[in-house]
Amino acid sequence: MSASQSTDLYWDPYDVGINTNPYPLFRRLREEAPLYYNERYDFYTLSRADDVERAFIDHKRLISSRGMVPAFMKLGVEAPSGMFIMEDPPRHTRHRALLSRVFTPRRVAALEPKVRAFCARCLDPLVGSGGFDFVKDYGNLVAMRVIGMMLGIPESDQMAVHERVERSIRDQVEAYPTLQDGMYAEYIDWRVEHPSDDLMTELLNVEFEDETGTTRRLSRGEVLTFVTLLSGAGNETTAKLIGWTGKVLADHPDQRRQLVENPSLIPDAVEEILRYEPPGFQNSRYAVEDVVFDGGTVPAGSVVVCIMGSANRDDRRFPDGDRFDIHRKPEGILTFGFGIHFCLGAALARLEGRVALEEVLKRFPEWTVDETRAVLRPTSTTRGYETLPVFV
Ligand code: HEM
Repeated sequence: MSASQSTDLYWDPYDVGINTNPYPLFRRLREEAPLYYNERYDFYTLSRADDVERAFIDHKRLISSRGMVPAFMKLGVEAPSGMFIMEDPPRHTRHRALLSRVFTPRRVAALEPKVRAFCARCLDPLVGSGGFDFVKDYGNLVAMRVIGMMLGIPESDQMAVHERVERSIRDQVEAYPTLQDGMYAEYIDWRVEHPSDDLMTELLNVEFEDETGTTRRLSRGEVLTFVTLLSGAGNETTAKLIGWTGKVLADHPDQRRQLVENPSLIPDAVEEILRYEPPGFQNSRYAVEDVVFDGGTVPAGSVVVCIMGSANRDDRRFPDGDRFDIHRKPEGILTFGFGIHFCLGAALARLEGRVALEEVLKRFPEWTVDETRAVLRPTSTTRGYETLPVFV
């Protein structure tokens, strides 16, 4: 059985108009075409929570090494070794384990006071200003600074790095991030001479057994790839999470008031924001064999787009999924993926989201969005505000 659907049902990740508010369409996809086929771009989509989760678990038949952007996946371009978000086992297992050794929960937890201090530094000058931009004056800076301080990138250069990542994701001009060319290379050389307690230094020193059984250190190129992966995966997504926090809470002032009155509700609120508006909107896989879902068969050789933005609103898993409710305590959100590629930075992203919101609410208990100037910018993998001016 192949995917069946009514002819007026159309979705593609490139259509900015559709993706401005795709939720009514996603509801129809889940009900009418849980396995939807897009003829124009030749890919399948999964929109129900259980199907998306099953696809992420099925990593032997639905592989990651063809890339993440549907337009490039049929080209068979290989990602640089170590870019393990686009690798399959056994390579993926080896590279992920290596990064996990240095990107530890202890390292993440140790960042909290620094994240808080940086949030305060961004927000304090804005008190009494009448307004600010949740993304440009806050989300972008916090996300960029946190990755930067973890890696050991000098603060003065962090903005240039961030802009390059954003541009490459927005314009979809590259099959893979190519920040290696110059952006980080010089810091690696510098760090060799000036070791510190940052992650880049640890990556330069870590010893591991490679696929030939030789114990060695990472090459400069391998360190660069890991650094590029962390920066590419963690910058834009976290900035968008903070942007969505500004938008969703402005739309739900009663719930925002509860957070001001009882800040212990903030971690659950962040989890609900992650469910309701996931910054990483969809992830794709390539089928190396036929795979059968309830809605039909994904034939071998196809691209499958797994829409976490839809899965997170599936009433089967999250009753009344289109309703935002900070008391929901959602279990099983797909915002960070699932299975072997589950986001390595999820704990860091949650920490940033929580601390960023705590510090905002201490200074600004209320705000409204300037809808005339706010710009939502969906791309083929992410969805969030490029700019979100608010009045305070
Ligand atoms: C709200 C913020 C974030 C979101 C929504 C997010 C989302 C995701 C998703 C959906 C995946 C799985 C991709 C797939 O299955 O193909 C992923 C993987 C990954 N993320 Fe995140 N991420 C966020 C923040 C971060 C941060 C802060 C870091 C690191 C500093 C990070 C590092 C990674 C890495 C290294 C992977 C690859 C894991 C693997 O392939 O094994 N992410 N992320």
